[in-house]
Amino acid sequence: MTEAVLGIDVGTSSVKVIAVNRNGEVIQTVSEPLKIIQHQSGFNEQCPNDWFEATQNCIKQLLKTHEMRHIDVKGLSLSGQMHSLVILDHAHQPIRDAILWNDTRSTIQCEQIKKELGEYVLSNPVLEGFTLTKLLWIKDNEPHNWEKIKVFLLPKDYVRFKLTGKINMEYSDASSTLLLNPKEKAWSKEIGGRFGLRDIYPDLVASHDFVGYVDTSIANDLGFNNDVAVFAGGGDNACGALGAGITQVDETLCSIGTSGVILACENSQDAVYKQNIHYFNHAMDQMSYVMGVTLAAGDSLHWLRNKVLSDLSFEQIIDLASQSPLGSRGLLFTPYLSGERTPHGDASIRGSFIGLSMLHNNSDIARSVIEGITFSLYESIKYLRESGKDIRHIVSIGGGAKSDFWLQLQADTFDAKISRLKYEEGPCMGAAILAVYGLGWYNNFEKIIQKFICYEKSFVPHQQYHQLYMKYFEVYEGVYRQTQPLTQRLLKLSEGSK
Ligand code: XUL
Repeated sequence: MTEAVLGIDVGTSSVKVIAVNRNGEVIQTVSEPLKIIQHQSGFNEQCPNDWFEATQNCIKQLLKTHEMRHIDVKGLSLSGQMHSLVILDHAHQPIRDAILWNDTRSTIQCEQIKKELGEYVLSNPVLEGFTLTKLLWIKDNEPHNWEKIKVFLLPKDYVRFKLTGKINMEYSDASSTLLLNPKEKAWSKEIGGRFGLRDIYPDLVASHDFVGYVDTSIANDLGFNNDVAVFAGGGDNACGALGAGITQVDETLCSIGTSGVILACENSQDAVYKQNIHYFNHAMDQMSYVMGVTLAAGDSLHWLRNKVLSDLSFEQIIDLASQSPLGSRGLLFTPYLSGERTPHGDASIRGSFIGLSMLHNNSDIARSVIEGITFSLYESIKYLRESGKDIRHIVSIGGGAKSDFWLQLQADTFDAKISRLKYEEGPCMGAAILAVYGLGWYNNFEKIIQKFICYEKSFVPHQQYHQLYMKYFEVYEGVYRQTQPLTQRLLKLSEGSK
């Protein structure tokens, strides 16, 4: 029998599971969509059991496929959306729906933390997305739930707990809570204590650590025919980077999924970044990474498809965009549909189209959305370069890497060579690599990466287009400052009229 591992990604829009053999070949892929619960603007929640149900459905479906008939699954590991808060009671039941990474309700709690500790805590900016602010929101607004909390977890930790019965969190995700000291790799209970947190911290493990086997009754139900070892896993950006071979200092990733990130590996423990750049532990022991985040990257395209160009597929939207010239004939979009993290750290900014005229058609609108998302990511690249990062080559993954048109647009805007992977499975591949390493199939990550990862195609920047994009980018940079007071006023008016 061929041996394989499973890589599971508990994302925001779907759960995805892949099976990978010892040579890094993807045998099968299955995914199931997830729904988001939005009670009001800025609120984004999901039911933790929906993640587990979707994971079970994916595994069952995957194991039943023809390709998996003679495959022996030896291990699995998980990646997942970062920061999203799951709270469990003494019986280890979720107390309420999870509050997601892109939920921005906790501005008051952010202000409280900043007043007490300053703008940056444990090498990270204080932002609504991060878990501590969500915990404090529960404390202030749902005291009945706060009292019941026995332990808090992140999404993939909850799914791993349901599979194994073991409660843990690993460093790459824990460092995204604003409660882990990323240098010491230990909970900063002192910081938690200042805000009234009881000892609700899960035990910490490394990403490649073995945490247990899939519980026997669950394994039988899922269709596994032997013991399946479970390894801790990592946050989706750490796993996305590992799965793209981004493991050495300055190697850089561009990932466009629901959110968009620019991530660069970092090995200095003393690096200081501002402008709302995040600093988290990587999924490999000695490495960290710095990252800028656009909250609504692929999500801006979802909005365009769902609310504006409703009968078109993503491929058709990209095709439309490619029919408009560079600069979208003077139409500029800012992707602040859910607020913005890097560089502005502003949950209440909103998106805009600037320069709209009778001339513009759907092609210009589609291109301006893609250009706006790309400009937003370029803001992170520009700042990281100014801070000393040597970014000349970027591996691009996610929805943004599916089209040649968008990859060339990235190369021309970022002024960097952009590569697409041959087998692009996003964070699932990083999770699978952690299981491969955990099982001891290879004795270091570099050997796995050499075997598993290769580029399919690269795109080089054209200087004349880069210069042109930079002219539009200058205007883009000005839009935040000038629209911020206006969108604030609009937001207040629309809230008042509810
Ligand atoms: C990173 C972030 C998002 C989520 C998406 O800080 O909030 O990229 O991890 O799942």
